[in-house]
Amino acid sequence: MKSEDAKTQNVEYPSVQEMNDDQRIGIVKDIFASVTDKYDFLNRVLSGRRDVAWRKRTVSEMNFFKTNRFLDVATGTGDLALDCANTYQEVNVTGVDFVQKMVDKGIEKISNQNLEDRVELKWGDATNIDFNDNSFDVTAIAFGIRNIPDMVKALSEMKRVIVDNGQVMILELTTPEPGFWRSTYSFYLNGVLPQLAKIFTKNPAAYEYLVDSILNFPTQKEFVALMESVGLKNSLAIPLTFGVCTLYIGQK
Ligand SMILES: C[S@@+](CC[C@H](N)C(=O)[O-])C[C@H]1O[C@@H](n2cnc3c(N)ncnc32)[C@H](O)[C@@H]1O
Repeated sequence: MKSEDAKTQNVEYPSVQEMNDDQRIGIVKDIFASVTDKYDFLNRVLSGRRDVAWRKRTVSEMNFFKTNRFLDVATGTGDLALDCANTYQEVNVTGVDFVQKMVDKGIEKISNQNLEDRVELKWGDATNIDFNDNSFDVTAIAFGIRNIPDMVKALSEMKRVIVDNGQVMILELTTPEPGFWRSTYSFYLNGVLPQLAKIFTKNPAAYEYLVDSILNFPTQKEFVALMESVGLKNSLAIPLTFGVCTLYIGQK
C-alpha cells in the first residue's frame, strides 16, 4: 500500500486478525503519516478530551529518583513528553516515534513552548530502542503498544533502558468489563466513532483500524501477564473512565 492511497477517501485495510506483522507495521506507518495534521484535534474530539486527563494521570504516577530522564516511546506529536516536561521542571525528556511526520509536528509544538533545552524528539523504533541500558528513570508508551505486533519485544526494550526500580508505563485504550459501560462503549466505537471519523478525516479507514485494534487488544489480566513475562515486577492495571482506558505500571 502506498502512502498516497491513504490520502484518498476509499482506502480499506484488512482486519487486524487478517494482517501479518509486516503488513500491520506498514499500515500503521501509513495511517499515522496520513492523519498527522488532524491527529491532536481528533484525539480531543473522539475522546471528549479524556485523552488529556489520561496522560496527566500517567504523568502524576511517574517517579524520578536517579537519572531524571524520561523516555516517551511512540511519542507521536509529543503530548506525553510535553506533559512530563511541564510537570517536572528538573526532568529531561526524549521522545521517539517511527513516523517522521508525527515527530516533526511534535518538534514544532516543543519549539512553540520554548522547551527545546529539555525535550528532544527523534525518529526511533519501539522494538529496537537506540539507547544504552539503564538510561532513564521512567519510560512510557501512550496509545502506541496496541499498534505494535511484537509487544514483548517493545516491553523488553523499554525495561532494558530504565534503571533498576524504574517504571515502565503503558497507557492504552481498552474494553470495559461486560455490562452497561461495555455496551455503551461498543455502541460508541461501532456506531458513533466511524461517523465522526467520516466527517473529520480524509482517511476514515484509519479509525476503523482504531476500533478493530482496540477490540483485539489483550484483556487486563493477559496484559499484566505479558508484563510479568518480560520480568517486570509489581505490575498493576489502573482502569480509567470505566475501563475505556487502562494505565499499566511495572517496575524493573
Ligand atoms: C495513537 S499514536 C500515539 C501518540 C502519542 N503517544 C499520544 O499519546 O498521542 C501511536 C503512535 O505510535 C507510533 N508507533 C507505532 N509503532 C511504533 C514503533 N514500533 N516504534 C515507534 N513508534 C511507533 C505511531 O507512529 C504513532 O505516532
